[in-house]
Amino acid sequence: MIEDNRYNQLIEQEARHWGEVRPDPANPQIWHDPKLFEIFFGKEYRHLVERTVANGPRVLELGCGEGNLALELVQNGLDVTAIDLSAERIDRAKHKAEQIQAPLQPIFLVGDLNTINLEPQKFDCVVAHDSLHHILMLERLLDEVQKTLKPGGRFITIDFIGMGTLRKITAAVLYAMLPTYQPYKAKWNLRQRLPAFLASEQKKRKDVERGSASMLHQESPFEEISQRSIITEIQKRFAVVESFTFNPFWYYFAAKVKLSGELKYSTGKMFRKADTLLTKLHLSRGAYFFMEARLK
Ligand SMILES: C[S@@+](CC[C@H](N)C(=O)[O-])C[C@H]1O[C@@H](n2cnc3c(N)ncnc32)[C@H](O)[C@@H]1O
Repeated sequence: MIEDNRYNQLIEQEARHWGEVRPDPANPQIWHDPKLFEIFFGKEYRHLVERTVANGPRVLELGCGEGNLALELVQNGLDVTAIDLSAERIDRAKHKAEQIQAPLQPIFLVGDLNTINLEPQKFDCVVAHDSLHHILMLERLLDEVQKTLKPGGRFITIDFIGMGTLRKITAAVLYAMLPTYQPYKAKWNLRQRLPAFLASEQKKRKDVERGSASMLHQESPFEEISQRSIITEIQKRFAVVESFTFNPFWYYFAAKVKLSGELKYSTGKMFRKADTLLTKLHLSRGAYFFMEARLK
């Protein structure tokens, strides 16, 4: 159990972090480059949208960020309520919503998914994209999701479930050696962050509980606080309809390695194909998973 004061302090820091996230030229991310996003997440993201549209019309989105998914869903005729911790992100989402035409406007709310209370049997579908791995009280949240779904309702998610230690070490060594947008000197200075990068979710949770911060991400204390347990906790509560993992490795480097122009995208496509083969042959588990689950 985490003490209230400490929780409040950490969640305020988390909210501040998300309000301030901006593209960083030294540490580019796939989600800030639409072409790379399409290569590594496009197919799975469209599948998430299609399955949500098929299971509407009343949808709740968890951790909606700046509202991209919610806006796509309302443009597909759904009635969407979307929640995020960051008031700044919700403001940006509301601003974007003013620029689009849709049968129903989305309802954007600021809220903490760790402590939220949801109305019983209100939604046909609950969807989460890349947000559950930030949730400390995941079991409580999944109980709330169960409660707020109508009978037969669906829970659909794409999320990060992490890499094993060996793959993380390989990634760290390759990141240190390959030419990246982060200069070599700055990478050397990042070595203090290695314990947090290598830490399992169990180690991170222990740190949160005992008031230490050595295994936590500096700016975002709940970064990767839930990983593989997301799958097992969903399985305990729901009947899985479809589940698969993807992106075992290269997704991590795709935006960070310094490759000029088209080479970044052609290399990305090549590695994505190799990665897809690895997961299809069950030679490697992806760092992300898709799951559609039904209320039992
Ligand atoms: C990686 S971003 C994903 C955002 C969005 N779903 C997307 O795909 O663009 C994670 C989001 O989860 C939100 N988040 C983190 N912890 C949260 C919490 N306790 N309650 C609600 N939202 C949270 C963050 O503010 C952030 O917008």
